[in-house]
Amino acid sequence: MLCPLKRAACLNEPVTFCLTAWLQLCKSRKLNTFDSRHCRMFSTSTQLRTVMPAWVIDKYGKNDVLRFTTNASFPIIDYPNEVIVKVHAASLNPIDITMRNGYGTVALNIRRDPLNIKSTGNEFPLILGRDVSGVIMERGLDISYYKPGDEVWAAVPPWKQGTFAEFVVLSANEISHKPKTLTHTQAAALPYVAATVWSALVNTAGLSKENCPAKRILVIGASGGVGTCAIQLMKAWGANVTATCSKNAVNLLKTLGADHVLDYKEGCIKTTLKSLKQFDVILDCVGGETEKWALDCLKPWSGAKYVTLVTPFLLNTDRLGIADGMLQTGVTIGTKALKHLCRGVHYRWGFFAPNGPALDEFSELVDAGKVRPVIEQVFQFSELPQAFQKVENGHSRGKTVISIIDG
Ligand SMILES: NC(=O)c1ccc[n+]([C@@H]2O[C@H](COP(=O)([O-])OP(=O)(O)OC[C@H]3O[C@@H](n4cnc5c(N)ncnc54)[C@H](OP(=O)(O)O)[C@@H]3O)[C@@H](O)[C@H]2O)c1
Repeated sequence: MLCPLKRAACLNEPVTFCLTAWLQLCKSRKLNTFDSRHCRMFSTSTQLRTVMPAWVIDKYGKNDVLRFTTNASFPIIDYPNEVIVKVHAASLNPIDITMRNGYGTVALNIRRDPLNIKSTGNEFPLILGRDVSGVIMERGLDISYYKPGDEVWAAVPPWKQGTFAEFVVLSANEISHKPKTLTHTQAAALPYVAATVWSALVNTAGLSKENCPAKRILVIGASGGVGTCAIQLMKAWGANVTATCSKNAVNLLKTLGADHVLDYKEGCIKTTLKSLKQFDVILDCVGGETEKWALDCLKPWSGAKYVTLVTPFLLNTDRLGIADGMLQTGVTIGTKALKHLCRGVHYRWGFFAPNGPALDEFSELVDAGKVRPVIEQVFQFSELPQAFQKVENGHSRGKTVISIIDG
């Protein structure tokens, strides 16, 4: 094997790129070389990096499990389609709070360690945080579309180490070039909710730019991160959007373009919505009680769909284990889908799915001025526990963002 440094000199390649190649080759051939975890070099710095600052948890629990460290393991590129991104900004979603509490541990640990060969608690120290806006520092051998220095945004799947850290590793299909008109702090508010909205409304409900103008959409619980993003995508595509929220969010949702905004605490929201012209698609960001009546607001026998984001899948696997939990989940979704199908409407569950191409679409919409991030509050990196507390208190109006590097 040619020494990477000689190869760099011969081919005039960046030294870091060749070092990555060297490390990957050594790893794949199980060569007894220096430990890649303990030797890092980036093109921006000659400093060797083995550790990085991050907020981690070492066990599940309340806010006091959050621990700041300057010694978190530096991420490594395991596959040739991965990149390392320097995190400039991140943001919080309800899943960060629930994951901190231990939600989804069984299913997420299976995804992290499919053969179940690692010991219990191997996910710790765990880094939370699903959104990132930042700059590519290093790329795997298969990647040519992105290069070091590119400004990107992404939503990191929950089984991977998160973004409340200085660096994060991502697959190329999870990232997208950041909108040019946004700062990193603004951009970090969108990826996770945008990918969720895309998965729920495009992939699950079957909406598109072409079929939206004829559709009536209802967004239940529209004042949070997902709802504010969903309204904007649907309006950008020409749909007629009705949204529900608390009174103090009504103006916000109107400024985002919603045609009809209803305060769910005023009168009987169920009766009010049932009295309106029926809907083609309902996105439910609240779940629970709403599920019992919301499907009555759909136009029957017309392909109308109800998509809820509040599903029992991870709760079932936490409670019953992976096999019984999945069985229970299958029975629940099957029963509900069948019951509602007999009444002429479709019942679906919506899930976040990482999706770089969907973020490309959002990037264009943002730069065209059709979608904007809705940011309620920005916290500094050192204030992460306060940000968690804020989101845990509920009543979000858009997103809570963490600025890690200014801009
Ligand atoms: N399945 C998935 O993969 C997935 C992905 C993303 C999100 N989610 C889930 O989807 C839900 C929404 O996510 P999010 O990020 O938008 O959460 P969020 O930012 O916390 O927003 C929820 C919003 O709903 C409002 N709300 C609460 N009860 C309501 C009701 N009965 N009617 C109307 N509005 C109500 C809240 O404000 P007020 O309380 O002040 O009214 C808040 O603004 C969360 O439960 C989240 O866990 C699931």
